Amino acid sequence: MPKLKGQEIVKNRADIIKDLNRAVAAELLAAYRYLYLSKYASGMHGREVAERFAKMANDEWGHVGMFMERIIQLGGRPFERVSEAEKVAFGKYLLPPKDETDWKKMLKDSLEGERDAIDFYHKLLQKVHTDDAVTTHLVREALEDEVGDEHALATLLA
Ligand SMILES: [Fe+2]
Ligand SMILES: [Fe+2]
Repeated sequence: MPKLKGQEIVKNRADIIKDLNRAVAAELLAAYRYLYLSKYASGMHGREVAERFAKMANDEWGHVGMFMERIIQLGGRPFERVSEAEKVAFGKYLLPPKDETDWKKMLKDSLEGERDAIDFYHKLLQKVHTDDAVTTHLVREALEDEVGDEHALATLLA
């Protein structure tokens, strides 16, 4: 492949690719976890909560693809071993609660996850905003979604 201008303009590419991989891993785990919870949550209010989890699963899956694509554009490789996702991810993976009617615990744990994501993307934005406009745009998009997720989860808990 010829040298790409779009790669040349980004100075700390290796570092950004590393951060984007941490995001891919975390989003992958979040997508799986939310899909799981969307099928698992039951009991009073469980249905309403499950619908929100289903929507978030789709959104997080979208973030996986978005960041993977950017890694490849930058000349990097998305991490390959799915079994390493927990190690690579920026946040920790929280197991579903034992009780499928405990949707409050599901919401509380998920809030924690969204807050980790907001923190990570906020810091990443500060890192990339002078040097990499394209990644900045994508990270801002993810940050907007996570802020919306946090708000929706908090509303369901109130
Ligand atoms: Fe996300
Ligand atoms: Fe989210």
